[in-house]
Amino acid sequence: MERCRALTTFTFLLSLFLGVQSKLCALSPLGPGQDDTDQVEAAIAECGQYGAVTFAAGNYNITRKMTWNLVESRVDLYGYLNFIPDIQYWLDPNNTYRVVFIQNQASWFVVTGNDFTIDAHGVGGIQGNGQTWWTYYANRTREDGDGRPIAFTLSHVARGLVKDFRIEAQPFWCNTVADSEDVVYDGMYCNATNTDPAYFGTNVVPNTDGIDTYRSDRISLTNWDITCGDDCLAIKGNTTNLYVANYVCRGGNGIAFGSLGQYANLSDIVDHVVMQNLTLLRLPSNIQPNMGSGVYLKSWTASVNDVPPTGGGGGGGYVSNVVAKDVYVDQVTVPLHLYQTNGGHSNDTPSYLQFSNLTFINWSGTSQRSKVVDIECSANAPCPNINFSNFNVAAPNGTAPGYECVNVVSESGLPGPCNATGSA
Ligand SMILES: *[C@@H]1O[C@H](CO)[C@@H](O)[C@H](O)[C@H]1NC(C)=O
Ligand SMILES: *[C@@H]1O[C@H](CO)[C@@H](O)[C@H](O)[C@H]1NC(C)=O
Ligand SMILES: *[C@@H]1O[C@H](CO)[C@@H](O)[C@H](O)[C@H]1NC(C)=O
Ligand SMILES: *[C@@H]1O[C@H](CO)[C@@H](O)[C@H](O)[C@H]1NC(C)=O
Ligand SMILES: *[C@@H]1O[C@H](CO)[C@@H](O)[C@H](O)[C@H]1NC(C)=O
Ligand SMILES: *[C@@H]1O[C@H](CO)[C@@H](O)[C@H](O)[C@H]1NC(C)=O
Ligand SMILES: *[C@@H]1O[C@H](CO)[C@@H](O)[C@H](O)[C@H]1NC(C)=O
Ligand SMILES: *[C@@H]1O[C@H](CO)[C@@H](O)[C@H](O)[C@H]1NC(C)=O
Ligand SMILES: *[C@@H]1O[C@H](CO)[C@@H](O)[C@H](O)[C@H]1NC(C)=O
Ligand SMILES: *[C@@H]1O[C@H](CO)[C@@H](O)[C@H](O)[C@H]1NC(C)=O
Ligand SMILES: *[C@@H]1O[C@H](CO)[C@@H](O)[C@H](O)[C@H]1NC(C)=O
Ligand SMILES: *[C@@H]1O[C@H](CO)[C@@H](O)[C@H](O)[C@H]1NC(C)=O
Repeated sequence: MERCRALTTFTFLLSLFLGVQSKLCALSPLGPGQDDTDQVEAAIAECGQYGAVTFAAGNYNITRKMTWNLVESRVDLYGYLNFIPDIQYWLDPNNTYRVVFIQNQASWFVVTGNDFTIDAHGVGGIQGNGQTWWTYYANRTREDGDGRPIAFTLSHVARGLVKDFRIEAQPFWCNTVADSEDVVYDGMYCNATNTDPAYFGTNVVPNTDGIDTYRSDRISLTNWDITCGDDCLAIKGNTTNLYVANYVCRGGNGIAFGSLGQYANLSDIVDHVVMQNLTLLRLPSNIQPNMGSGVYLKSWTASVNDVPPTGGGGGGGYVSNVVAKDVYVDQVTVPLHLYQTNGGHSNDTPSYLQFSNLTFINWSGTSQRSKVVDIECSANAPCPNINFSNFNVAAPNGTAPGYECVNVVSESGLPGPCNATGSA
């Protein structure tokens, strides 16, 4: 990379002058039909530590898995990393990483390191070319851990900022942050929208989660706009001190806590989650038929039913100190749902994973069913302190909203009684 070297020389002289050490790299797309992977890796190797890399606008074809190890650096990404949709290539386990432990999920692009900024300025990010994947999988079995790649993985990051980043057409999960701390994502766009008329009216984009958080502390997600066919946010085991604000979900299942308790040998702890200003919008049903919940929380049962990544159960832990405030739901199926029977059978041992201290403030909008709150805690771990204030989600067409609480130790603040009757 001549250009990178020239810039580095310039920067070296500049840094002598300024008394600082930093390397600058700049790159532009090689052009249609070219493979940009080499020049992208070279620029990151050259300037990704104690330096800066600027990607000019355009498409950078990426043809193999890639890790960026960023240390005290910044990346300005005005273009798209275009992950070519060669499905058979990516499904070869040798061609992706398995750095996300849960469900053995695959990644084609991993960022690791510390003290970095990746700013895509609202004009760059990742092109996932998901339509090829969704169409391919439409008539095939999809399973967790089958090798469909996460579009953008942050793994073992300390103090990172991802800003104004766009991910078009994620084939599978859009983002994951795992084994990380002090990460801010401010401005994230993901859009998994099927445009193949053969599949209008069906959810052909399952598993296109906005982000899954796992084994991570002090993560902040602000100003997100997610269109997907699954969880727009999935808060998985050992997520602590999570802050979410100004989050829009278009279609899919809603915001999930879980699922939790899938691994019998690991406890899942979710503690101190604050979410505010959440907007969940139903899309036209020919585009995306599902808009499941506002917020839903789920655990596996205490019985072990087969093994992860597809089966599981038996894991303990707890979810506590959660606040979800200023939530608007548009025609969601069940605005607030908690259940502890994920992946289970009726004769299973009820879960020991306990939900407690859940606070829901200022909810409005509409539900497709009369039962606007459905909280069914495990008999083995009844839920204390389920508190509501200003919870005003309208049931369909003038029907009375129903509130169901099963194995809830203490509830306060709903406009009506919350008990096992909860109208349907
Ligand atoms: C780069 O992407 C373009 C379309 O985005 C494609 O036509 C071209 O074949 C790709 N090149 C490689 C090397 O994959
Ligand atoms: C994956 O890599 C391993 C080790 O390099 C090799 O033994 C194996 O044959 C490869 N698998 C495929 C499907 O290429
Ligand atoms: C997949 O199944 C749908 C019906 O569910 C059908 O319309 C479509 O033609 C099938 N596609 C392929 C590629 O077989
Ligand atoms: C998502 O993509 C679809 C298809 O390209 C487009 O119609 C829709 O406007 C996009 N959604 C957002 C929020 O940009
Ligand atoms: C709430 O979120 C929406 C969408 O992200 C944003 O437009 C709006 O400004 C936010 N409201 C506040 C009070 O921050
Ligand atoms: C827990 O079990 C999984 C398999 O279900 C295994 O991969 C993992 O290594 C185990 N972890 C520990 C800490 O024992
Ligand atoms: C979560 O943290 C606890 C305690 O630190 C640990 O025992 C457990 O294995 C962790 N769970 C996962 C999924 O890593
Ligand atoms: C309640 O939440 C909505 C957003 O859903 C917000 O516009 C409104 O200001 C909030 N009300 C109060 C009293 O905070
Ligand atoms: C739940 O909140 C109460 C105070 O209301 C506190 O005593 C308790 O420790 C909290 N539970 C957990 C698991 O943090
Ligand atoms: C829930 O409300 C009860 C009764 O008002 C109160 O004692 C408790 O501290 C509240 N818990 C939380 C977590 O706010
Ligand atoms: C809702 O109520 C309006 C008027 O009361 C009625 O015309 C409409 O059919 C009702 N819709 C449903 C889905 O029940
Ligand atoms: C539900 O709660 C209301 C108010 O506390 C009470 O009148 C009703 O009998 C309860 N129903 C059941 C089945 O517990």
